[in-house]
Amino acid sequence: MLFDTHAHYDDEAFDADRELLLATLPERNVGLIVNPGCTIDTSRQAVALAEQYEYVYAAVGIHPENCGDFTDSDIDTLRALAQHEKVVAIGEIGLDYYWAENPSREWQQRVLRAQMALAEELHLPVIIHDRDAHADTLSIVKEFPQVRGVFHCYSGSVEDARTLLKMGWMLSFNGAITFKNARKAPEVIVEIPMDRMMIETDSPYLTPVPYRGKRNDSGYVSLVAEKIAEIKGISPEEVERITFENGKRFFAIP
Ligand code: NI
Repeated sequence: MLFDTHAHYDDEAFDADRELLLATLPERNVGLIVNPGCTIDTSRQAVALAEQYEYVYAAVGIHPENCGDFTDSDIDTLRALAQHEKVVAIGEIGLDYYWAENPSREWQQRVLRAQMALAEELHLPVIIHDRDAHADTLSIVKEFPQVRGVFHCYSGSVEDARTLLKMGWMLSFNGAITFKNARKAPEVIVEIPMDRMMIETDSPYLTPVPYRGKRNDSGYVSLVAEKIAEIKGISPEEVERITFENGKRFFAIP
């Protein structure tokens, strides 16, 4: 069975067929899913989905793109949501310097630190989003040595990957590694041990080749496993088995 460690089924792209799609994922060999929230509202929806489907778990957090009107009371709301037994992480949180219209860098950093502190307090791992903000993201996570986490859709250098591995962190990869212009990620995948890697789709985005451009869903995480198998020179079944175990261990899923 495959573990899709990052998918957004609260997204409106799934409004027309969410229930049908989620119900049929086990038949498509998907055994576990983590659905991270990106706002207070989608964090609540992630928890609701986790309540509805045995194989769906939730993470709660505020994404850097959505952190413009963050207030300290949001931390109290996230803390309360995180009490739910199926909330396994704080995420997705991080820094995104790609979009010019995003909240200021200083504000994003403040919101990230507040959520890292919450993860430390609750002894929960974090799911990190880092887009064009490698140096600042790494330096902030280093301020919280008690917190471990995963860089989802890892896009940093081999050197930063080694630093994160030494800190006990995980790296996660998705359909972006199948794209023609993917160069850095395969170099990183060659370097890092299998027991530190997870796979994901980031559904509904980043659909792997040959379905690029279509809506993504967890069934396509098999194509990510196949690509990693090709890069590592092992079988897709081995990638599937190891990443499933890695995900269960990382998120402490029984
Ligand atoms: Ni995401």
